[in-house]
Amino acid sequence: MTKVGIFFGGRDNGNTAKIARKIQDGLGKGLATVHNVNNAKTEDVNKFDMLILGTAAWGIGEMHSDWENFIEELLNANLENKKIAIYGLGDQVMYPESFVDGMGTIFCRLPFKQNVVGYTATDSYKYYYSTAEKEGKFIGLAIDDDSQPELTDTRVSKWVSQVRKEFGL
Ligand SMILES: Cc1cc2nc3c(=O)[nH]c(=O)nc-3n(C[C@H](O)[C@H](O)[C@H](O)COP(=O)(O)O)c2cc1C
Repeated sequence: MTKVGIFFGGRDNGNTAKIARKIQDGLGKGLATVHNVNNAKTEDVNKFDMLILGTAAWGIGEMHSDWENFIEELLNANLENKKIAIYGLGDQVMYPESFVDGMGTIFCRLPFKQNVVGYTATDSYKYYYSTAEKEGKFIGLAIDDDSQPELTDTRVSKWVSQVRKEFGL
């Protein structure tokens, strides 16, 4: 059984799904599997020791709508002993006041915040406000495939190496 469950919510075959597959490729298919939150339940979450949670920012500063149902399934899982990393898609040019807020919402809803790893620097982005920023860092990986697509692959591979270490893999 794989150790890492990657759970994502975004448009069908959209950017969030694409990043989930890139993260899976980076970790290796034997280690990680990808799940669309549309079809995922509490028992699916409980199968894994480590979780990677991904969402597009939607509405104005919301998680993607598919996450609205899944978040309850997630919160019913046994999260106390699981390490968690979060990634978020957003667009800093169109939404500079709610940049990648979807991942900020997921973080805010999690009960065991000390289990979250994969914090990243905010330097290479330009925005006014993000709920995903805590004490000068993003609480996960921020991807802007709309206005900085050329940075995506490097950001993902650097983060996968960091998370691999922080997961103890
Ligand atoms: C209706 C709508 C609302 C959005 N709201 C935000 C937002 O508040 N903050 C942000 O950073 N990006 C926002 N975005 C940008 C998306 O998060 C971004 O385009 C993302 O790459 C979409 O991922 P997907 O293809 O997986 O759906 C919004 C996009 C749409 C279409």
